[in-house]
Amino acid sequence: MDFHGIRIQGKDEITTPGKKLSAGRHANVFEWGEDRVIKLFKASYPTDLVTAEYYNALAVKNLPFKKPIVCELKKTEFGYGIVFEKLAGENMMDYIERTGDLKGAAIMMAQLQKDINRCTFDLENTGAIESAHQQLRRNMVNSGKADTEATKEMIRFLGTMKEGNALCHGNLHPDNVLITDEGAVAMSASNYCIGMQLFDVAKTFFLIAYTPLPGEEKEGSTCPVCRGIAGTEERKAFGRHYLDAMGKSATEIGGYLSMIIAGM
Ligand SMILES: Nc1ncnc2c1ncn2[C@@H]1O[C@H](COP(=O)(O)OP(=O)(O)OP(=O)(O)O)[C@@H](O)[C@H]1O
Ligand SMILES: [Mg+2]
Repeated sequence: MDFHGIRIQGKDEITTPGKKLSAGRHANVFEWGEDRVIKLFKASYPTDLVTAEYYNALAVKNLPFKKPIVCELKKTEFGYGIVFEKLAGENMMDYIERTGDLKGAAIMMAQLQKDINRCTFDLENTGAIESAHQQLRRNMVNSGKADTEATKEMIRFLGTMKEGNALCHGNLHPDNVLITDEGAVAMSASNYCIGMQLFDVAKTFFLIAYTPLPGEEKEGSTCPVCRGIAGTEERKAFGRHYLDAMGKSATEIGGYLSMIIAGM
């Protein structure tokens, strides 16, 4: 169904959204008045995941890294929407397509991720944000491969690993970065979690490497990325620049990467 407007409780008129800024798998983002946007979730998307994203956005609102400020959660006749302050900038995927500057983009993304990972939490008091271990375990248990010995072993191994207290974005890839005059900004609050920085690096590396190429997108694909870097060589180059900029090696992220893949 096309989206023509939102009827707000207590008001008769329909509030018409502005330009559609993005069309995602679970949500569409529209301009909303002069200085806001609304991320409007599809009706099929579970409400508890919408509220979890809203509470994540609230939990990181005052932390010292760049992200759009969350304003409110709205129930509309078209589904739930989260309202954010609108930022002016260029999506990093558009920047890469326009300039081909994979190295510059990787450095900007790594800087942003380091700013996020520098935020630490008291593990007794993480509020609404779940742990990276909870996220990894849930994905492996729900993967459809949970009964295999390999997955069972990885779940056991996860239980022996240190949890970590760094804020992880959990969904950082070029399509979730907006380049503004003030620097790179982290979009999407859907997967914030508390864990080890290596987990977040492995997750981003996974999102880069597993981005579908044109024609690869399958119906019901579990790949979390909608728009990706279009070429195997470019993905490899971006992945290498990214790991260099983070000061990490493929070997270091191997353990987390295996668990992330097992959870797909
Ligand atoms: N506050 C904002 N200001 C300007 N542009 C925005 C804002 N929020 C989102 N956008 C644009 O819309 C795009 C999609 O937003 P977002 O990443 O939150 O949704 P999604 O991709 O559908 O969901 P997710 O990444 O959580 O799976 C962003 O990459 C960005 O280009
Ligand atoms: Mg996104």
